[in-house]
Amino acid sequence: MPGANISPNQGKLLNILARACSSKNILEIGTLVGYSTIWLARALPEGGKLITIEYEKINYEIALENIRKANLEETITILHGKALDILPEIEKTQADPFDFIFIDADKPSYVDYLKWAIKLSRKGSLIVLDNVIRNARILDENSSVPKVIGVQRLNDYLKECQEVDFTILQMVGEKEYDGMAIGIRK
Ligand code: DHB
Ligand code: MG
Repeated sequence: MPGANISPNQGKLLNILARACSSKNILEIGTLVGYSTIWLARALPEGGKLITIEYEKINYEIALENIRKANLEETITILHGKALDILPEIEKTQADPFDFIFIDADKPSYVDYLKWAIKLSRKGSLIVLDNVIRNARILDENSSVPKVIGVQRLNDYLKECQEVDFTILQMVGEKEYDGMAIGIRK
C-alpha cells in the first residue's frame, strides 16, 4: 500500500513500544491492509488480543487475507465499519482497558479518536498517532486541506490535553518527512 503504509522501521518501532509496556490488549484505528496490525500483533504475548477497525471494504478484505497468511486470526479481530460507530460497541463489550492504542485512520477525526483512546485506556497505556508532520504541511496556517486541518486540530488539542503526556517524534520515512505523536496516559 505505497503512500499510506507505515514503513518497516516504523513497524518495528510500534512493536518495540508495545512490548515495552507489556501490552496484552491492543487497539488499532485504521487497519489499512494490516501491515501495522501484524507488527503490533507480533508484540503480544500468548493469549494477547488486538482489535483493529477498517472503514474501506476493499482494505478490510485484503487485511483479512494478510492476517490469515500471517497466521494471526486467533489474535486479531478486524472490524469493518466507521470507527466512531464501532468504538461505543467496543466500550460496551471490552472488559479490560487497552494497553496500547495506535491511531492511523482519517485525519479529520483524529481528535475524536484520541478522546476515545483516552476513554478506552488506563494510566500507563501508550497512545500513538501517525502522520502528525506531513512534510511540515501542518505549519501552513492557511491550509484548506482537511487532512492537514485535522492534524492541526489534534496539535491544538494535545497542547491542552491533561489526560495524556505527549511528544512528537519526527521521522524521515519512505514516503515523506513525517512523524508520530507518542503519549502516555496519565
Ligand atoms: C495518508 C494517510 C496515512 O495514514 C499515511 O501514513 C500517509 C498518507 C493520506 O491519507 O494521505
Ligand atoms: Mg499513516
